Amino acid sequence: MRDWFWERVARCETPAAFVALQGLGLEGANLDHCPRVAAQFRAAGDEAGAQILERVQEDEIGHVAFAAHWFEQFTGAPLEYGRWRASLPTPLTPALMQGRPLALAARARAGMDEDFLAQLAAEPPIDPRRRT
Ligand SMILES: [Fe+2]
Repeated sequence: MRDWFWERVARCETPAAFVALQGLGLEGANLDHCPRVAAQFRAAGDEAGAQILERVQEDEIGHVAFAAHWFEQFTGAPLEYGRWRASLPTPLTPALMQGRPLALAARARAGMDEDFLAQLAAEPPIDPRRRT
């Protein structure tokens, strides 16, 4: 899985594709994963670990906002779901760039508007271990 994934990252042929994948995609997904895993840590009695993940999510908001800014600069247009989706290196899709539940408030703070988030919600995640 790791090699398979990084081979695709290396295929980012433009700066817009890179920030679409790394910042808006992968770091955007971390916005969803951090609170879910923090809750699991907390439920297991690891309060310190939960707080670290919550801090990571807060840091990621800035990283995703940075990517949104540069995606807009590189594409010359406001962040829009279809443009972001089209910028991801094939065969990667938004299905791999999210967790559930979506961290809507964190994603909004990072610059994703309601329309973007509605379209992301309509394209649910898949199990990344499946390659078909
Ligand atoms: Fe990050």
